[in-house]
Amino acid sequence: MCGIVGYVGSKDVVTMLLNGLQKLEYRGYDSAGVAIVANGCLEVHKTKGRLSGLCSLMDGCKAPGAVGIGHTRWATHGEPSFENSHPHTNCAGDIAVVHNGIIENYMKLKKWLQDEGAVFVSETDTEVVAHLINHFYTDDLLSAVQAAVTHLEGSYALGVVSEKHPDMIVAARKDSPLVVGVGNSENMIASDIPAILEYTRDVIFLEDKEIAVLDCRSVRIFDEYGKPVNRDSYHVDWDAAQAEKGGYEHFMIKEIFEEPRVMADTFMSRYKEGMIDLSDIGIDEKLVRSIRKVGVIACGTAFHACMVGKYIIERLARIPVEAEIASEFRYRNPLIEPGQLVIIVSQSGETADTLAAMREAKKRGAKIAAIVNVVGSTISREADAVLYTHAGPEIAVASTKAYNTQLMAVYMIALELGRLSGNLPIEDYIRYVEGLKNIPQLMNTVLQTKDQLARIASRHFSQNSVFFIGRGLDYVLSMEASLKLKEISYIHSEAYAAGELKHGTIALIEDGTLVVATAMQRRLFDKTVSNIKEVKARGAKVLAVCFEGSDMPAEIADEVITLPDTDDIFAPLLAVTPMQLFAYYMTVEKGFDVDKPRNLAKSVTVE
Ligand code: M6R
Repeated sequence: MCGIVGYVGSKDVVTMLLNGLQKLEYRGYDSAGVAIVANGCLEVHKTKGRLSGLCSLMDGCKAPGAVGIGHTRWATHGEPSFENSHPHTNCAGDIAVVHNGIIENYMKLKKWLQDEGAVFVSETDTEVVAHLINHFYTDDLLSAVQAAVTHLEGSYALGVVSEKHPDMIVAARKDSPLVVGVGNSENMIASDIPAILEYTRDVIFLEDKEIAVLDCRSVRIFDEYGKPVNRDSYHVDWDAAQAEKGGYEHFMIKEIFEEPRVMADTFMSRYKEGMIDLSDIGIDEKLVRSIRKVGVIACGTAFHACMVGKYIIERLARIPVEAEIASEFRYRNPLIEPGQLVIIVSQSGETADTLAAMREAKKRGAKIAAIVNVVGSTISREADAVLYTHAGPEIAVASTKAYNTQLMAVYMIALELGRLSGNLPIEDYIRYVEGLKNIPQLMNTVLQTKDQLARIASRHFSQNSVFFIGRGLDYVLSMEASLKLKEISYIHSEAYAAGELKHGTIALIEDGTLVVATAMQRRLFDKTVSNIKEVKARGAKVLAVCFEGSDMPAEIADEVITLPDTDDIFAPLLAVTPMQLFAYYMTVEKGFDVDKPRNLAKSVTVE
């Protein structure tokens, strides 16, 4: 959470920082601020609320050839306010700091610094960093930052400037993402690549506990012991335009419409002559012979991809799968067998709980295969093997296309585990591989449900509560459908296994309650229809989702979305998109900010 940027070079630093922050606003939008060192003076400009407020405040300001850092905040310590906005400074106001992460021991440090005479003006954990650097400062900013970070517990990506060093940025990281952009007579830092992509495609990923010193001519990196580090830069091969709205009203709808392409890209990256090739990530016969169970771990939407993974791996490969929420796994003394396969799923590759769970599993002897979208992210670097999802930059806070590609990856793993375990006959394997290959094509038809879903949303957006029900894979799909709706429309919603409703939750169904029922598991179709009848009998309005040609009784479904025919096993891949569109249009109808829902941030780099 929070986005940080920094720029040193000859261009106008105000423009550079504000442009960069605009690309990072998805990481937090409670307040925004910049610190600029121009003509030997440090100036701080900040404001509560969205970046647009800061842009208005700075309208007409220019500072070519200066040095600066900027921040967009997702509040953790202290309410969104002017005082708690970054950058924070020392008492003299000559050192400024922006920070993403949480300083866990800040109370202790604050007390100590106050006893030393420091006066604090905010409730943030970050302010201690500014005072701490000041405490250690003699005449060298790098040494002061190096000394300060040895006292910090928790996570941080830091950008530091001082008016005593008007041509330098010092940056440091531990457990929070930070990239250095290497330009031509200009250098930058940012929490994420899109912030700097307009200016350079060459980036350096800082490792944990490293510190970088940037001026316009050079980038120097030091390890935690102060030893210089040689690090090659990574050339980014995707385009800045991919991180723009491209004519769509919101990133979310643009990203939903990219799903056929990115799903095909993800599949084709592993498809070779009718088969899926995962040998380079260690999913081979030797592994499959040795494993007795598989773990799949993630947070949020990525966890829902894990749940689909559990259902299909167990079905195709007959290997037991434990799907687990990362924040639970990391603290529950989990049982991991040495050599066990643990699959970690993360769009950003930076989610704090997921990263910690991965480290925990690794420490206990697991072999880690990560399904990750962001190339070079911490999880991708620390995993034993990576299956990249090729979703491209996902900007909307609500994950859509990244989830679809995570599903693609999970299906590919399940098919390979099935084939290699001998539990999936080769003719079924070949049929499923071809079926999966065909999904992106079918997605184009699925997207045509857009107008119907917009109309349905216009009739139902004033609902207070929505229930999503289904059985088997339709149930795990419902979990994601429910999360999508609640996170952006703020409508209370719950996902329920359709057969479980009668054990309590059906008490909540009353006249007019909307129930979204997915009935795409043909084997269970009649059972789900019975459950739909039960809610209908209690006054529910029903939106049913089924395959074309299904015999959905007209009297029980008020609205029906039909999806192109394919094998039941692929239902979640097709059905999730109408659910994303439904959440999108419900939110548009309510007039909320689709791409930046309240209280959330794209990359959750704090616990
Ligand atoms: O970057 P990650 O995939 O690790 O993120 C995990 C969750 O924070 C994320 O999926 C979150 O639930 C999204 N807001 C869902 O739309």
